[in-house]
Amino acid sequence: MSAVSNLSLKVRRNECVALDGPSGAGKSSVLKMIFGSYLTSSGRVLVRMQKSFIDVACANPREIIELRHRSISYVSQFLRVIPRVSCLDLVAAAAREDGCSALEAEERARNLLERLNLPGRLWTLPPATFSGGEQQRVNIARGFAPQRPVLLLDEPTASLDRANTEAVLDLIADRKAQGVAILGVFHDPDVRLRVADRLAPMGRGEGASDE
Ligand SMILES: Nc1ncnc2c1ncn2[C@@H]1O[C@H](COP(=O)(O)OP(=O)(O)OP(=O)(O)O)[C@@H](O)[C@H]1O
Ligand SMILES: [Mg+2]
Repeated sequence: MSAVSNLSLKVRRNECVALDGPSGAGKSSVLKMIFGSYLTSSGRVLVRMQKSFIDVACANPREIIELRHRSISYVSQFLRVIPRVSCLDLVAAAAREDGCSALEAEERARNLLERLNLPGRLWTLPPATFSGGEQQRVNIARGFAPQRPVLLLDEPTASLDRANTEAVLDLIADRKAQGVAILGVFHDPDVRLRVADRLAPMGRGEGASDE
């Protein structure tokens, strides 16, 4: 049994494409296949790494790790809680994966947490006990901390109120303007309309075709 079949899709730099389809259509599975956490049984998943492409469908684990360090940021729907690490350190550690200095990593982390309206009193605390929306914002800050050319977003605004949704849309617009290729799932139709340059339709079980 396959979760996704017959999908053809291309995302360019400076572009945000939204996977669009009903629950169970395979949207999250596609993101996980591109990130290399789900196996792709046939076909190709080409992701640019520097001057060439890696086919994630047949890449070895070492190549997948390199791809995650250099090319792809993935914001999953939920934060995997890391106990006893403050949210500032969590975000700064993600920034340092880029190879930036400890000072710059902390600066990036502060900037992101501020833009995402995370109250300063929480920055030194581990996020385990934060509210759902606060944890989601830490998760987003973590995904945006490294500067990579491909960004995968799985319902990044699902548990956020209006003001925080706007903050995330701002961050997405900035990344797009910087030349990042973005593929996402946005459950809210208004958010999808605002953020996506194109929709990639996915039907249940049949996949979709787009160029
Ligand atoms: N081991 C499996 N093998 C094949 N298909 C599976 C397996 N586990 C789950 N599925 C199915 O894969 C399909 C795609 O799931 P996925 O999470 O990608 O959907 P989605 O489009 O992201 O849905 P939602 O909008 O609810 O998040 C679902 O119908 C799910 O039942
Ligand atoms: Mg999903």
